[in-house]
Amino acid sequence: MQKLKQLLKDLEPAIADIINQPGSPRAVYEPISYILGLGGKRIRPAMVLAAYKLYKDDYSPEVMKIAQAVEMFHNFTLLHDDIMDNSPLRRGQETVHIKWDNATAILSGDLLQIEVYEKLADVGNVEILKLFNTMARELCEGQMNDMQFEQMHVVSNEAYLEMIRQKTAVLLGFSLQAGAILGGANKEEGEKLYELGISIGLGFQLMDDYLDSFGETAKVGKRIGGDILEKKKTYLWNEMWGRIDAYTQQEIEAVYTESEVEIIDFIKTKMNESGAMDFTLNLAQNYTSKSLTALNNFRATVGDKGYLEEIVRMLSSREN
Ligand code: IPE
Ligand code: IPE
Ligand code: MG
Ligand code: MG
Ligand code: MG
Repeated sequence: MQKLKQLLKDLEPAIADIINQPGSPRAVYEPISYILGLGGKRIRPAMVLAAYKLYKDDYSPEVMKIAQAVEMFHNFTLLHDDIMDNSPLRRGQETVHIKWDNATAILSGDLLQIEVYEKLADVGNVEILKLFNTMARELCEGQMNDMQFEQMHVVSNEAYLEMIRQKTAVLLGFSLQAGAILGGANKEEGEKLYELGISIGLGFQLMDDYLDSFGETAKVGKRIGGDILEKKKTYLWNEMWGRIDAYTQQEIEAVYTESEVEIIDFIKTKMNESGAMDFTLNLAQNYTSKSLTALNNFRATVGDKGYLEEIVRMLSSREN
C-alpha cells in the first residue's frame, strides 16, 4: 500500500488547511473542524489525486482544491446523514448532532457545503461545476430513497442498487472524473473513469452495509446494527427477506418490539443463516474484480495506474 500511503501524505497539508476553521461565531465553525478532524479514510480526495496521476505527476493547485472539496462535501453529507439515520457514533466519536444538537449539525453542514462551493469557484472550471451539481442532486435523491425504503418490507435489488448508486457511488465517480479532467483527460476518458467510480462505489456501499451489521465497533467507529434498527433496506436485508419463509418474516416483524440487542442479534442470525451475508460479501467482491478489470483495460493513460489500483484493492478488504 505504498502508493496509497503516498497519496494520503500528499493530501496532509490540504486536509490540515480545511480542518482549520477560524471563523466566528465559533459555534458554527467548531463542529466543522471537529468532523473533519476526526479523520476517516480520505478515499475520495485520494481518488481525485489517483485519477490525476493517470495523466500527470505534479499536482496543480486546482486538483488539490477539488480534493479538498470532495472531502468537505462528503463530511457535509455525513453531518446531515447522521441526523437522518439517528446515528450516535461516527469515527469512534459522538456525532455532531449528539455532541451539540440538530440545529447546529444542520447549520454547520450548510456552511460546510458553502465552503465546498467556494473551492469550486476558486477552481473556476464550469464543466467540473456542472458535473458536481449533477452529482450533488443525485446524492440528495438517493438519500431520500434510502429513507423512504425504511417504510417498505423489502425492495428489489435493482431499486437498492440504484439508490446506492445515487447516495454513494456518484461522489466516487465524480472524484475520479474531476481528477482526470484536471489531469488532461478527454471527454470519453473522463466518462469511463466516472463509470469506474460507480462500480467502485457500488462495491463500497455493499461493504459499508456489511460492516454496519457484521463489523466491529472499535474498527468501524459506528454503532453496529444501526441499519437494522433503522429498518434500512440494505442488500443484506433484501436478500435475507427473499430467502426466509413467511413464518420467519413474521418473527422478524415481531422482534422489533423487543430490546435493541435482541432485534440486532435475531436479524443478524437470519442474515447469516439464510446465506444473505455471504451472498452480499460475494457481490461486493464481484464489483471489486469488475473494477480492477475495467482499470486494467483503461488504455488512455500516460501516467501511473498503480495508485488507483491500490485504492480499489484496499477497499475490498477494508474493516472500517
Ligand atoms: C461513509 O463513508 C459514508 C458512505 C458513503 C458509506 P466512508 O466510509 O468513506 O467514511 P470515512 O470518511 O472513511 O469516515
Ligand atoms: C451514507 O450512507 C451516504 C451519504 C452520506 C450520502 P450511510 O448512511 O450508509 O453511511 P454511514 O453508514 O452512516 O456512514
Ligand atoms: Mg444514511
Ligand atoms: Mg448513515
Ligand atoms: Mg452505512
